[in-house]
Formats: sequence, structure tokens, C-alpha cells
Amino acid sequence: MKKIAIVYSFNSTKSAKVASKIAAIFKNYKVEELNVESCKGEEFLLYDSYILSVPTWFDGELPNYWDELLPALGKLTLKGKKIAIFGLGDQKNYPENFCDAVGILADFFEELGATIIGFTSPEGYTFESSKALKNNILKGLLLDQENQSKLSDERILNWARQLEIELS
Ligand SMILES: Cc1cc2nc3c(=O)[nH]c(=O)nc-3n(C[C@H](O)[C@H](O)[C@H](O)COP(=O)(O)O)c2cc1C
Repeated sequence: MKKIAIVYSFNSTKSAKVASKIAAIFKNYKVEELNVESCKGEEFLLYDSYILSVPTWFDGELPNYWDELLPALGKLTLKGKKIAIFGLGDQKNYPENFCDAVGILADFFEELGATIIGFTSPEGYTFESSKALKNNILKGLLLDQENQSKLSDERILNWARQLEIELS
């Protein structure tokens, strides 16, 4: 059975719940959960596919645990790796930086040669700007548990189905 690593902070509140939901959906893959807070750079060489979880904090920034890990990844070549990113954010209170961290990670991993998958439509969200939005496409799955939690389960399910196709 093919393996995917889902990388998230085991100490995060809402993101950890969403990550477990996503991990449980995949039927044809073995999903292994990695804690980003104790991740070593080389762990990004062990799997072919990754799902990364990144909430946005500090007005458009990565949370500390991602910020601290990125320098350890800086020299890796991730050509051939497929990476999907989901991020929690709050479009009402942070409309100018909604889920920026998804865009920051997407740019970072693209720079290392990885292929970003799991793009989604911005329809259904209301925000002014986001680093996750490029050419009217979101570079991952954006979830707003503060204002649109009722939409999340369907968004997660659709995204997981999309990833199964993009990974095959
Ligand atoms: C101090 C603070 C800053 C935040 N900054 C942003 C932001 O810039 N953009 C955004 O979309 N959400 C922002 N948020 C919302 C969080 O991303 C959101 O609450 C998310 O669900 C947190 O997920 P976590 O509990 O897994 O860390 C911020 C929240 C707080 C408390």
C-alpha cells in the first residue's frame, strides 16, 4: 500500500483535529502522521507524498514550529515529491492575510523542486488578499473554523478525493 505522510503540529488545537480527519479519509493509502515540532529535515526525503498542515499566525506569518523547521530543509532537493497543503485561518478578522501561510509554504517547497498539488477554487470565501491565491487559484485547501466550520467537512472530503486522483 502506498504511503503518505501528513505533517502537522500535534500540539495545535484546531489543525490537529482536521489533520486526523483527513488522515482517516484515505482508503487506498497508508497515512503516517508526523509531528512538525519534532520533524528532522531528512524526513522530507522518506516519502513520495506529503500533506502539510499550516495555520496562519501573527498577521500573515507561519507558526513558530514551521518557521523553525524550514532552515533544516533549505538544502534538500525535493524533485519528484508531491506536496499538498491545507491551512486554517480566519477570513473575518484577518481579511488581508487570510491563510497566507499556505502560500508561503507552497512557494518554499516549490523552490526546493516539489510539485504542489491540491489547488482549490477561491469561491465561497470572502477576503481581501491572501498569499495562498495565485492566478485566481488557491494553492491548497483553506479552512476557516472560526466563521465557516459548517463547510469544512465537505471541503475536506472533496479535497481528499481530489488528492487521491492527483496522487495516483
Ligand atoms: C494572534 C492571532 C493571529 C492570527 N493571524 C491570522 C492571520 O494572519 N491570517 C489568518 O487567516 N488567520 C489568522 N489567525 C487565525 C488562526 O489561523 C485560526 O484561529 C486557526 O484556526 C488556528 O489554528 P490552530 O489552533 O490549529 O493553530 C490568527 C489567530 C490569532 C489568535
